Amino acid sequence: MDKTAIVRCEHFNAAHRLHNKNWSDEKNKEIFGKCNNPNYHGHNYELEVKVIGVCNAEIGYVIDTKILSHIIKEKILNRFDHKNLNLDTEEFTDLNPTAENIAIVIYNLLKPEIDPTLDLKIKLYETPRNYVEYPY
Ligand code: NI
Repeated sequence: MDKTAIVRCEHFNAAHRLHNKNWSDEKNKEIFGKCNNPNYHGHNYELEVKVIGVCNAEIGYVIDTKILSHIIKEKILNRFDHKNLNLDTEEFTDLNPTAENIAIVIYNLLKPEIDPTLDLKIKLYETPRNYVEYPY
């Protein structure tokens, strides 16, 4: 049977600051620019969760989107929506909350919740013009 991909789109707002504590303020500003603003800044993150696999023969679904939506809400949105990623979440206490790292964290939080016979891919838009994909 051929594989099919199904994508669930979700959304969250969060604040962050990109900063490497091992660097000087000057170097942080040089590398991260506006994203190093000491008082943080926000993004409207658009999250696309893609699940890939062979449809269940009896049902015709790769995964029930109601179930997928529920998993994303429980594991991701409740954790990150309307939060300061640096200050309010344990995932980014010591990890720079770049879009790349956020996508990897989201993947790792969702992967154990999805049937292991299915593949999972994350697309995360930080702005309408910038997005990251994991795994690539
Ligand atoms: Ni930013």
